Amino acid sequence: MKRILITGALGQIGTELTQRLRKDYGIDKVIASNRTEKAGAVAKEGLYENLDVLDGAALHRMVKRHRVDTVIHLASILSAKGEEMPQKLWEVNMQGLYNVLEVSRQEELKVFFPSSIAVFGAQTPRTMTPQVTLQRPGTIYGVSKVSGELLCDYYHTRFGVDTRGVRFPGLISKEAMPGGGTTDYAVHIYHEAVSRGAYTSYIARGTRMDMLYMPDAIQGVVQLMETDPDRLHHRNAYNITAMSLSPEEIAAAIRKRIEGFEITYEVDPVRQAIADSWPDSLDDSVAREEWGWNPKFGLDEMTGDMLEFLKNKKMSEGEGFFGV
Ligand code: SER
Repeated sequence: MKRILITGALGQIGTELTQRLRKDYGIDKVIASNRTEKAGAVAKEGLYENLDVLDGAALHRMVKRHRVDTVIHLASILSAKGEEMPQKLWEVNMQGLYNVLEVSRQEELKVFFPSSIAVFGAQTPRTMTPQVTLQRPGTIYGVSKVSGELLCDYYHTRFGVDTRGVRFPGLISKEAMPGGGTTDYAVHIYHEAVSRGAYTSYIARGTRMDMLYMPDAIQGVVQLMETDPDRLHHRNAYNITAMSLSPEEIAAAIRKRIEGFEITYEVDPVRQAIADSWPDSLDDSVAREEWGWNPKFGLDEMTGDMLEFLKNKKMSEGEGFFGV
């Protein structure tokens, strides 16, 4: 990776990934792009372009202008939002990926495509879900991610494009909030803990989903993209995870640091049904073997880091907070 274009750079993953890549590869080697500009460091601190991934010609011009050799394609619509607008999700997620793959074929670029635990469905083995197993998702988001995995495989075998990807579980981020996903509660809970000492969960008690702290997710992307291609047999897309969590387990970890923290439940049937169709836990051994995937953060370390960060943010903004 020498000159990297990131789509969806102002989103949940892009915000922290852009900062990391600028630090590692150079401020002038990373081009952050997003459909709409939002205030914030990512758009201001380095190269930034407005880009709608549905505009293939604009994407191609940008790749040429910046002499890009790698695309990290993060622009997409997530699971819960997708159920409100399935047609739009299909257009953004599939046409966007197609445009990225086509320019990568023509300009010989390397591609990162994030897949998701959403590629699995109710018939998939629920615990320690294997790397290779039945993929019959029930959401349009999951359908787009399975299709994306297949399309990336196809572009690799048919045209030799160096496509690589992982299946992300729920991602818990410090900087940017997620938007429209089913696992978003696991981010909201920390913010609400610090600002009001309580959280109302839309996911039911006892519902397990895999989670990963953003610094580990980002380390995974960098590591996968830097691995010698000869070691990658699965390519698109590797199961990765760090922990399988339920809302009450996160709440208990928060309570160790914010005394009296309370969790209550108002279950949203749409997002609960999606969560119930996803695995309880993933088997990530193939990623560990092929490219050394090895996350550092478990629940307690992550909770300590998250709460410290959010508390310091509140203090610097002159606001009060819960906890010590
Ligand atoms: N975090 C995503 C979602 O909930 C899963 O990939 O939609």
